Amino acid sequence: MTRQIRLNAFDMNCVAHQSPGLWRHPDDQSWRYKDLGYWTDLAQLLERGRFDGLFIADVLGTYDVYGGSDEAAIRHGAQVPVGDPILLTSAMAHVTEHLGFGITTGTAFEHPVPFARRMSTLDHLTGGRIGWNVVTGYLPSAARNFGQDDQLEHDDRYEHADEYLEVLYKLWEGSWEDDAVVRDRERGVFTDPAKVHPIAHHGRHFDVPGIHISEPSPQRSPVIYQAGASPRGRRFAAENAEAIFTGAPTKALLKEAVADIRAQLSDAGRDPYSARIYNLQTVITDATPEGARAKHEELQSYASDEGALVFMSGWMGIDLSRYDLDDPIGDVQSNAIQSAVAAFQQADPDGREWKVRDIAAWGGIGGLGPRVVGSGAEAADELQSWVEETDVDGFNLAYAITPGTFEDVVEHLIPELQRRGAYPTEYAPGTLRHKLLGRGPRLPDEHRGASYRVGEARSTGAAGSAR
Ligand SMILES: Cc1cc2nc3c(=O)[nH]c(=O)nc-3n(C[C@H](O)[C@H](O)[C@H](O)COP(=O)(O)O)c2cc1C
Repeated sequence: MTRQIRLNAFDMNCVAHQSPGLWRHPDDQSWRYKDLGYWTDLAQLLERGRFDGLFIADVLGTYDVYGGSDEAAIRHGAQVPVGDPILLTSAMAHVTEHLGFGITTGTAFEHPVPFARRMSTLDHLTGGRIGWNVVTGYLPSAARNFGQDDQLEHDDRYEHADEYLEVLYKLWEGSWEDDAVVRDRERGVFTDPAKVHPIAHHGRHFDVPGIHISEPSPQRSPVIYQAGASPRGRRFAAENAEAIFTGAPTKALLKEAVADIRAQLSDAGRDPYSARIYNLQTVITDATPEGARAKHEELQSYASDEGALVFMSGWMGIDLSRYDLDDPIGDVQSNAIQSAVAAFQQADPDGREWKVRDIAAWGGIGGLGPRVVGSGAEAADELQSWVEETDVDGFNLAYAITPGTFEDVVEHLIPELQRRGAYPTEYAPGTLRHKLLGRGPRLPDEHRGASYRVGEARSTGAAGSAR
């Protein structure tokens, strides 16, 4: 049977997200990121294209590793200015019926109690279509604005996140029984207090004695997304994630990553296909092969090398302004995204060491992910070969310009994939968890979060493979 490909759109509440300089392109609309209409139009476009979801990235600091300051980031509009992603969601949910929303929020700086309430609220307002991309952060500039000298060390950030999630699972899964809200007009009882339980969490980082103050939402815990790829990040993903974003630049690296993620899911007592894996990817497509290549060349002429190095410096934790463009990137240790450093050191199939210049060219459009340029049929061939050879579930599509890149995908790639039986023509019914994993709406029983359930809800996840 032809394997189905799944697509997510990757965006951020800022200009030119991962394609620095492209905001200068005459057709780019990302400068309208402050208009609600821009987001509601995008959500409707993605739903027409049967995308699983819109994944909105976020950071709370500036990219100030390059040149030791955020001057270049500010000049290029490199993810600064940036708005809050959460506030976009209810408006987009209002104009769509099925599209999921993967909202990025860090575990480092916000207390889990208000965050738990915000997610429950959004899960209600979206009818169970909310996902949370759990990030531990990588920008020291964010930590400094919270009064800290630096962020925690890499692995300590994940230890902290472990407890952060424990608190959240207790609030979402273990505080309210399903039948706690009775709305009994005659007895004057809205909620039965015996069915609402304090979580009594006392840990190393958090003390949360009381109850979750929101009514349980359709999915309770939002669908958990994760994008860490270091060994510690993978372990965290295996214990928590239901959708995993990778940023592998080659098929060989992706195949290795997918096999490792599926093995770690098994080790964590979960079905290896109980998390959807999406690799970062940019698709530049048009009606003809020549049209696509001409479009790519034209888009590339707007890319900014310096903007790309601003991002790469932040992701790798290395000031690339100190290197000559022809210097190899070398064997560097990073306290930022270890996976990014490792990826580039291993990216070249011939073992050629990457130079700073290669990193700038690679990152000019679509960040760390690979690029496909071609007609709908060529792009479909390529994506299908990635899925067949790597066992990845689908792709997290970055844009060169927006909504243009997504419009091209909806017009040229998706109908081609649908003709081949490799892409859904309709959404599955139900919550985001239903649509992604074919079961739900709650966390499956073998998931870490399910162990915190109380009352009847203790076993509401259905068994079976999600493949
Ligand atoms: C495709 C992709 C998207 C990411 N999006 C974000 C983001 O929006 N915000 C953020 O703080 N980190 C983001 N990250 C970083 C990861 O969540 C993680 O913190 C980082 O990779 C460091 O962990 P690692 O060393 O385990 O990979 C992203 C990473 C990847 C590969």
